[in-house]
Amino acid sequence: MNTTNLGVALVTGASTGIGRATAKTLQIAGFRVFGTSRRVSAGRSDGITMLSCDVTDDGSVAKLVDEVLAQAGRIDLLVNNAGIGLLGGAEESSIAQAQALFDVNVFGVLRVTSAVLPTMRRQGTGRIVNLSSVLGLIPAPYFALYASTKHAIEGYSESLDHEVRSFGIRIVLVEPAYTRTSFEDNLAKPDQLLDIYDSVRAGMNVILRKAMETGDAPDVVARTILAAATASRPRRRYAAGKIARQVSFLRRFVPESAFDKSLRKQNGLPV
Ligand SMILES: NC(=O)c1ccc[n+]([C@@H]2O[C@H](COP(=O)([O-])OP(=O)(O)OC[C@H]3O[C@@H](n4cnc5c(N)ncnc54)[C@H](OP(=O)(O)O)[C@@H]3O)[C@@H](O)[C@H]2O)c1
Repeated sequence: MNTTNLGVALVTGASTGIGRATAKTLQIAGFRVFGTSRRVSAGRSDGITMLSCDVTDDGSVAKLVDEVLAQAGRIDLLVNNAGIGLLGGAEESSIAQAQALFDVNVFGVLRVTSAVLPTMRRQGTGRIVNLSSVLGLIPAPYFALYASTKHAIEGYSESLDHEVRSFGIRIVLVEPAYTRTSFEDNLAKPDQLLDIYDSVRAGMNVILRKAMETGDAPDVVARTILAAATASRPRRRYAAGKIARQVSFLRRFVPESAFDKSLRKQNGLPV
């Protein structure tokens, strides 16, 4: 039986992958954990309370926060994990599709964060962990729209951290590399495919599949999220796993032209 009490945590997208592992890791560490899914029928039997939420829906997010407050009275930690991917040439997606992606990965984070901040301000304490990606740090050919959402989360999180720090609230980023989850199965397909990208898109799918197979276990990211959630003096960003740490280091210290060449090589593009 867990005797520590680290407070109340809310994890979006806790039905699978990183969110699911994170909910369990936080619960074992001593948080009372609420997780979300768009499809909740019965709660989990492992001590995590599952609630329904679609982060693209203002009403659904407001109802979620009301429900957590009704049951637990406070929210100490929010993990904005819910997210989806999209692989294809940037010009292969309509504006509507790009907006739909941003609605989950960016505006979803804004919605849940803005709904939780008044509670954290009242409490005078709180921590928000936003799931970015190494693709929030580097260019990502054929992942341009997804990478844009994660670059947006980086800028939003760092800026917001300065706005709310004086209220006792900190915003931190966790940046995983490839992680073995349902991410690949849940990738959106471009809605205006162009023949010119067929072969390179197929190649990227193969590269992604291989990278996912050898990627980190979701537990690696979950442990990083726990560290980011509980550090008394949190860093702005936490790379999750060895590859993510390497990418983050190389991005900062390798000259741009060398980084450019290496990135093209890694992605099977002519150098
Ligand atoms: N896997 C990787 O290689 C990787 C690498 C870097 C960063 N990330 C990031 O890590 C996070 C988790 O990804 P994952 O790999 O664990 O993916 P996943 O296994 O596909 O899980 C995605 C989660 O997001 C939820 N979700 C999707 N759309 C939603 C919406 N509109 N409203 C509410 N929840 C929604 C899903 O819940 P329901 O379908 O049950 O609603 C699911 O629980 C994402 O932000 C992703 O960008 C992943």
